Amino acid sequence: MLRKWIVSAPSNIALIKYMGKEDSSLNLPANSSLSMTLDQLCTWVEIERNSFGSDGVLFIPELPRELDRSFNPTVPALKEAGVQRMIRHVKRVQESVHSLFPQYGLTAEAGGQIEIRTANTFPASSGIASSASSFAAVTLASALAFCKDPDLFQKIWQGNPEFKRDLAQISRQGSGSSCRSFEGPWVLWEGATATPVKSALPEMTDLVLLISRDSKEISSSEAHSLVRTSPLWEGRVARAQERIGALRTALASGDRIAVSKIAWTEMWEMHSLFHTCEVPFTYWEPDTIRVLRWLRGILTSAPEWAPPPIVTLDAGPNIHLIVESSQAAEWKGLLKEKFPDLPLLEDTQGSGVKAVY
Ligand code: PMV
Repeated sequence: MLRKWIVSAPSNIALIKYMGKEDSSLNLPANSSLSMTLDQLCTWVEIERNSFGSDGVLFIPELPRELDRSFNPTVPALKEAGVQRMIRHVKRVQESVHSLFPQYGLTAEAGGQIEIRTANTFPASSGIASSASSFAAVTLASALAFCKDPDLFQKIWQGNPEFKRDLAQISRQGSGSSCRSFEGPWVLWEGATATPVKSALPEMTDLVLLISRDSKEISSSEAHSLVRTSPLWEGRVARAQERIGALRTALASGDRIAVSKIAWTEMWEMHSLFHTCEVPFTYWEPDTIRVLRWLRGILTSAPEWAPPPIVTLDAGPNIHLIVESSQAAEWKGLLKEKFPDLPLLEDTQGSGVKAVY
């Protein structure tokens, strides 16, 4: 029998960063992290399972066949190591569901040939974290493909948040930050588990200034271990944990000024870890510094019409400004006027991975 599943999962952007691992085989973090889940900047995954085929997982570098093409999807340019990592993850899901499914009254069905096709809705090498969105999508799609009763699966997925969190834990083992893409809009990842947190902020929009599309010289996996060689690593976990507490309070009360200050300090700290490790490195480009200098002025005296933006950078040169959706047009206008040479991506907050069909 041939069955097909299509799943879409958004990327997420962290305000308190996952940087440094406690256990690298399980991707357990040194400190908790807190992020906003995006909506349209996502990965689509199509999985086909032919239960009569010989056992195996194939990654096909083509667009999913049944896909809405209106958003100009691109096939991620995965190197062989990336393909193997994805295939290993599908096998991890296959093994993990054997013990997970019975806890929810589901039956796992192994074997057969699996074909995976994926597409991103954001341009290739745009600095959007594609490992978070692709691993979240591959986890849900393959869990569905290995389930004997997909209708019951969907019911439990929709009705029981614990099931979603258990699948997020499996996803985390493939790519740490992917566990935060299972729910939204604001998600705390603590130890093994990611859960949503309360926020009194209005709907938010992420505006991304694209400084460079080049692929990273230092992968985030390398960065996770290099930061431990920085003299600033001492005390890092305690500082991040303290910031998590402060950010949760600020989000719960909708204190935009405090959220913005915490995110700005945390971003500088993560990049300072990169700049001070044993063999220092940077993700910044000259334009990153040009924009950060301008933003420093904006953050010390925000325009009258808006509270300060929430500014952050991932392990890359591109700059995220998270602003109220109702003021996104004004911010876009200002950014286009100040930096007409820099392309801009835009997305709102979202609610996490979902099965499309
Ligand atoms: O999930 P990874 O191993 O790609 O690590 C992501 C690390 C950062 O993007 C830099 C920070 C974060 O918390 O998303």
